[in-house]
Amino acid sequence: MSSHPPAPRRPKVTLRTLQRKKAQGEPITMLTAYDYPTARIVDEAGIDIILVGDSVGMVVLGYETTLPVTMEEMLHHTKAVVRARPSAMVVADMPLGSFQVDDAEAVRNALRFIKEAGADAVKIEGGRERAATVRRMVRAQVPVMGHIGLTPQSYLLIGGFVRPGKSEDERERLLEDALALEAAGCFSIVLECVPAEWAREITRRLRIPTIGIGSGPDCDGQVLVFHDLVGLTPFPPPSFAVRLLNAYELFRQTVEEFRVRVEQRSLFPTPMTGG
Ligand code: KIV
Repeated sequence: MSSHPPAPRRPKVTLRTLQRKKAQGEPITMLTAYDYPTARIVDEAGIDIILVGDSVGMVVLGYETTLPVTMEEMLHHTKAVVRARPSAMVVADMPLGSFQVDDAEAVRNALRFIKEAGADAVKIEGGRERAATVRRMVRAQVPVMGHIGLTPQSYLLIGGFVRPGKSEDERERLLEDALALEAAGCFSIVLECVPAEWAREITRRLRIPTIGIGSGPDCDGQVLVFHDLVGLTPFPPPSFAVRLLNAYELFRQTVEEFRVRVEQRSLFPTPMTGG
């Protein structure tokens, strides 16, 4: 096993860093990571926020949706990311069932991410119906990121991964959700698959930064699932994801080369000496 030299240090990204970036019009970068090496890669590349997303359920654990993901799974992956000691802010995604039952349980679970796993903040899905929960979490000293638009945890209720509609009512509802989350104390909000014009308007109306995914170029920042960006999934990425590499194919070819070399007896690792 190779040793792990510490990652080059940069100042820790905090809520103040994000607020300053919004004020100065500097784009905020966010990527998912679910394990130690990926967290190292993302952090060393200078990304502002690492999201330990419940998308881990789909891209790493093989679930068809994010619904089965548990608190214990999220804590396990968050701890692995935090062990990379990233300068990036680490945001842990609260899975379905961990914050919807009642506010006391939501606060207890949010605090587990901070105290047990070492996360810097949590993210929860939902609009104004989550405002009271956000308030309780913030009062318990937990920074909270909101998430509106396409909310994968609503899969059963909405009947799929459905983008928000395009009606005027929907536009107003999303804006009011964003304002309610800001008033409740969220430090930032993810806008997923929100029409670009609406995302621009929400971004302009909020004092806190918006982070877009499939929501056009005018949010304060952009987020992607790491595995979609590097092409490390056996299935095609969502239509809005940018794929800059085909890692799945690269890994598959490399493993095939290993198999062929072993079968041809042409792979001779140097034997360990001494001891
Ligand atoms: O779980 C996740 O990766 C997310 C992002 C898509 C924002 O919520």
